[in-house]
Amino acid sequence: MDSIIRVQGGKPLQGDITVRGAKNFVPKAMVASLLGTTPSKLRNVPLIRDVDVVSGLLGLHGVQINFDQGAGVLDLDPSNVETAHVAEVQAMAGSSRIPILLCGPLLHRLGEAFIPDLGGCNIGGRPIDMHLNALRSFGAIVDKQEGGIHITAPQGLRGTKINLPYPSVGATEQTLLTAVMAEGITELTGAAIEPEIMDLINVLQKMGANLSVDTDRTIRIEGVKELKGFTHTALPDRIEAASWASAALATRGDIYVRGAHQPDMTTFLNTFRKVGGEFEIDDAGIRFFHPGGELQSIVLETNVHPGFMTDWQQPLVVALTQATGLSIVHETVYENRLGFTKALNQMGAQIQIYRECLGGTPCRFGQRNFYHSAVISGPTPLHGAEIWVPDLRGGFSYLIAALGAEGESIVHGIDVIARGYEHFLTKLGRLGANVERA
Ligand code: EPU
Repeated sequence: MDSIIRVQGGKPLQGDITVRGAKNFVPKAMVASLLGTTPSKLRNVPLIRDVDVVSGLLGLHGVQINFDQGAGVLDLDPSNVETAHVAEVQAMAGSSRIPILLCGPLLHRLGEAFIPDLGGCNIGGRPIDMHLNALRSFGAIVDKQEGGIHITAPQGLRGTKINLPYPSVGATEQTLLTAVMAEGITELTGAAIEPEIMDLINVLQKMGANLSVDTDRTIRIEGVKELKGFTHTALPDRIEAASWASAALATRGDIYVRGAHQPDMTTFLNTFRKVGGEFEIDDAGIRFFHPGGELQSIVLETNVHPGFMTDWQQPLVVALTQATGLSIVHETVYENRLGFTKALNQMGAQIQIYRECLGGTPCRFGQRNFYHSAVISGPTPLHGAEIWVPDLRGGFSYLIAALGAEGESIVHGIDVIARGYEHFLTKLGRLGANVERA
């Protein structure tokens, strides 16, 4: 069913809101709990759809889950893990990208895994070749079936050497979750080192895993026979925090984001300051605000950590429509994450997208016909429009645009935003936004 809101824009967002645990960490820690022989406790868990989806999937495999939503505490008991019915797993096809990470833990616990076809945002092809190559390298056999893949490991899983051709977050997590209980030593080179991955490493270490991270994107893991449960507080969601920061800038507002954590956001904060936004950091969070006057155009390239996250790009682009001059954005992580700019143009923005690698180093998409660079000419006043949410971050960007625009906007498909933004309509209300369900 289409979920629609009506937004009266042109009013600065002001007030304070709280961000809880990271969408791109919490579901992975939930998957890690499958590896334990005793229960795990995860704190700071947000009420977002990805948590529901993974709870459902773990539940189908016999994990007992109790979620105290108010307190944000999730208890996971994997004592009675069992093989799920394939039909029930198939029914979850298309709901998320997390199910692929169940491969290693299910192989260790049950000797087989059936993984439904993946979902997630349509921001590029999003292949899983690196995941499957890693699993095969551990000794797994992958069989493509109707509605998903069936994976077995008749000879068991053995430590291996894996070199990722690109520091993929998911393929790194796949390798970690499989290697911790594989027999012998695994050496992963070219690994992703995002803070969410480091927090997954924290969790695995608490469970009894042996792992070390070197300075050169190499992670070494020595498999153990048994892991126990963990108690852990999830790191805060730095994507949600940056999204609210961009909303403050684009609406000339002032938002205190409780829970925003400076060390994971250094690159964002630096960029935010270059554009002309200001912030104040204290122990509990970060206040982001528009200090008045003009915003400055910038040249920006998205990249893996510690670069500027691709997930920060879409919300910030809306703020860049209000900056004076030409901004250049080069998206190097996903080949198709600039399509959302079309609707911004409909609202009065002037954004041109290009196939060339603009403004920085050539990336792997340059020769391949993908529109992955943007030139944003500003400042352009935005006006209300009827728009359809294209994906999670693009959807939040449209909310920002509608809130910054003069007049009324109708935004369709806002349920997608609930996949990664907890209580976003309530938070908008707290910030004084004029938003109602249509
Ligand atoms: N890739 C491959 N083959 C693979 C895996 C990845 O070619 O087997 C490519 C992808 O197509 C992409 C690039 O490698 O071009 C990076 O993908 P990565 O594996 O790093 O991303 P992911 O694990 O699928 C996670 C987040 C994304 C976030 C990226 C990058 C989750 C559930 N998703 O995706 O989050 O953009 O890392 O940081 O953790 C979002 O939150 O809106 C979101 C899309």
